[in-house]
Amino acid sequence: MNIKDEIIGMLERSRGEEISGQQLADSLGVTRAAVCKAVNRLRSEGHLISSSPRRGYMLENGSDRLTVQGIKQFLPERYSGLEVIVLDTVDSTNSYAKRLVASGCGECIIAANEQTAGRGRLGKSFYSPADTGLYMSVVLRPDRPVSELLMVTVFTAVAVCRTIERFTGERASIKWVNDIFIGSRKVCGILTEAVSDLETATAEAVIVGVGINVTTRSFPGAVAQTAASIGSGGISRARLAAETAAAVKDIAQCANRDELMEEYRRRSLIIGREISWSSGSGRAVDINDEGNLVVESGGETVVLRSGEVSLGSAGIAAALADERS
Ligand code: BTN
Repeated sequence: MNIKDEIIGMLERSRGEEISGQQLADSLGVTRAAVCKAVNRLRSEGHLISSSPRRGYMLENGSDRLTVQGIKQFLPERYSGLEVIVLDTVDSTNSYAKRLVASGCGECIIAANEQTAGRGRLGKSFYSPADTGLYMSVVLRPDRPVSELLMVTVFTAVAVCRTIERFTGERASIKWVNDIFIGSRKVCGILTEAVSDLETATAEAVIVGVGINVTTRSFPGAVAQTAASIGSGGISRARLAAETAAAVKDIAQCANRDELMEEYRRRSLIIGREISWSSGSGRAVDINDEGNLVVESGGETVVLRSGEVSLGSAGIAAALADERS
């Protein structure tokens, strides 16, 4: 690791507290001039590092640049061996992950400060401006049949809801399949992709892509009507990344399937509501144990396996009122 990475790691670990230049220099076995040079480089990359002549350097609490060290320090011990990759800008962390999988990588976390071609489900794009969101892909190497992994998408939605709630203190709900809402606004989207071996029907890798709007204030076009952010500042994206990745890793074991499915249903914005989809409309009555949406439509039961459903704003308001009562 180079001096700059070592220093940001040490400053991250004692964020908000001063460390003297001499202390940094001694623990790295370098000169104070080298420390000073590295700190200046970190500042030019956007880290907010204050310094005072007698007390030393301090990473300010409001400094929210994503770094490998920053994410690693919040990862629980059981995942400390997981590789973490942080990119300043990338087309899409999921696309980057696919390229890594093709070159034989192991399990890892890829986070970017900005995506220039963030992807959503069904060929949509995911707005991913610099500095204000968490754009992350977790590469899992499950070595299990693809059929056993279909629930990872559904369970990830539960994992992400729990994490967002810990950071915001607000109730997070799920709009089938895996859009995460706070109140009537979408704050997070999940895109799960598998790289599978058709010969053996096993998944070589599962890529779980999570996009959370953290402090983005304005959204383009029609997204502006439906999207919002989870906070207005004070949320550490490094910590959010680490806790989200750990939750995804935990939940990918798919233990306690029944409990997770029950929680998914409890968090659903659409069960019991009138909904519409590309070729019909009806009343959503359940989400079955395979994660499919069960709808009553014109006296018949229809099972939707994928796609997108709409719930008018009146429907969302009613669902939220039910949740509160
Ligand atoms: C959706 O809303 O339909 C899903 C959005 C998923 C966005 C995340 S951001 C990180 C990862 N990389 C991508 O290109 N997409 C996912």
